[in-house]
Amino acid sequence: RIAGPSGLVIFGVTGDLSRKKLMPAVYDLSNRGLLPPGFSLVGFARRDWADEDFARVVHDSVKQHARTPFREEVWRQLAEGMRFVQGTFDDDEAFTRLRDTIGELDKARGTGGNFAFYLSVPPKYFPTVVRQLKKHRLSEAPGDSWRRAVIEKPFGHDLASAQELNRVVHDVFPAHEVFRIDHYLGKETVQNILALRFANTMFEPLWNRSFVDHVQITMAEDIGIGGRAGYYDGIGSARDVIQNHLLQLLALTAMEEPSSFDADTLVTEKLKVLNAVNLPEDLGLHTVRGQYAAGWQGGEKVAGYLEEDGIDPASVTDTYAAIKLEIDNRRWAGVPFYLRTGKRLGRRVTEIAVVFQRAPYSPFNTTDTQELGRNALVIRVQPDEGITVRFGSKVPGTQMEIRDVTMDFAYGESFTESSPEAYERLLLDLLLGDANLFPRHQEVERSWEILDPVEEFWASHGKPEPYTAGTWGPKAADDMLARDGRSWRRP
Ligand code: BG6
Repeated sequence: RIAGPSGLVIFGVTGDLSRKKLMPAVYDLSNRGLLPPGFSLVGFARRDWADEDFARVVHDSVKQHARTPFREEVWRQLAEGMRFVQGTFDDDEAFTRLRDTIGELDKARGTGGNFAFYLSVPPKYFPTVVRQLKKHRLSEAPGDSWRRAVIEKPFGHDLASAQELNRVVHDVFPAHEVFRIDHYLGKETVQNILALRFANTMFEPLWNRSFVDHVQITMAEDIGIGGRAGYYDGIGSARDVIQNHLLQLLALTAMEEPSSFDADTLVTEKLKVLNAVNLPEDLGLHTVRGQYAAGWQGGEKVAGYLEEDGIDPASVTDTYAAIKLEIDNRRWAGVPFYLRTGKRLGRRVTEIAVVFQRAPYSPFNTTDTQELGRNALVIRVQPDEGITVRFGSKVPGTQMEIRDVTMDFAYGESFTESSPEAYERLLLDLLLGDANLFPRHQEVERSWEILDPVEEFWASHGKPEPYTAGTWGPKAADDMLARDGRSWRRP
């Protein structure tokens, strides 16, 4: 799978995402031989740069963040196709220059008119940029070439704004040429969920309400909000990652087997299960939000959310959220899916734990602790990529004592191949026009529909509960599971 003749235009190319993820990913793809020789990269931003300045920034970013070794000949070939267009998003002349630049690259580099426009810009600029692309006929693909739009989250901030955004974008680009980035879908371990479930026979017979007690999806981060106050405050953890990453993980874990592995079939199945997702009746009992307070992490004293630079000291933004969801279909009725995420938690870990019911009867005279005897299959998304199966085993000795043990699959031990960075995979798929790993607008809208009532409930019900940085979140989250006779895993 090697991309055909093409180029990438990045709007907002001076931003963080572009320097930390996009530029290195382009280089790594090129270094792995997955980009065509004439591949071209156009940066568009306000900064007063010449092509050489832009190339220098890309060079530094590659040196700092690329995964593959630096090779002069790869770099040189790539750098020859780098251009910078200076301008603001409402500047017509800049878009004319962009058009000329693309025309020049088609001739000089053989990009064939195939360009993807990556909007690495704050969402308030999306409408302006896509309208300019239309006005300057950049969205129109000449001949049999293609033009694509790539958008980064946040895809709106509730259902209404997401619908409006989709309307604006689809007015300019056909739906199948709009690629929404959810970088979780680019992760190797996330793609493996469907392989685990549908390339094997031993899991799927158990993957339902007859055997599964509940599912826990955790995305815990040890970092705080860093320099992202402007983006994060007023958005919060649920909108930041539950609406997208965690609901996508839920969809992959809970969906039915797709009849084939193409984008349309996948979206149909994901949408089917997302449509069956419901919130429990009493959101006061089944959702929790928290906000980190000062504490210790990794031996260092860290500030609380309200003391972070740029945060309103009276902010009620959640940095932790836990939500119980139900899936009303034949496979999952009665099996709760607990989703939780938070900043400044005990450690960085994302995992999906499918927790099985206890054996209906135990002939062994064992002391019954809450956790013992709960078989579990844990998909370790990151950072320790792999899968763990937990089950009870007899402790060696003269008595019949049972203890939980684990069986592990670790990527590092089983494969010599390294996982490509999520953005590498996603950029390659974008250039290939393969939409499997990109959420469609219907999924995005449905996910907001699920989350909106929670946000509305929170907005009119008090404040997030403080939790000490470095712990596993507010006490209310433990109470929430305890009421159901369950407890959170301590990953
Ligand atoms: C982003 C969120 O989508 O995902 C960030 O906006 C979060 O707040 C990040 O830190 C986490 O990504 P990863 O790949 O490190 O789990």
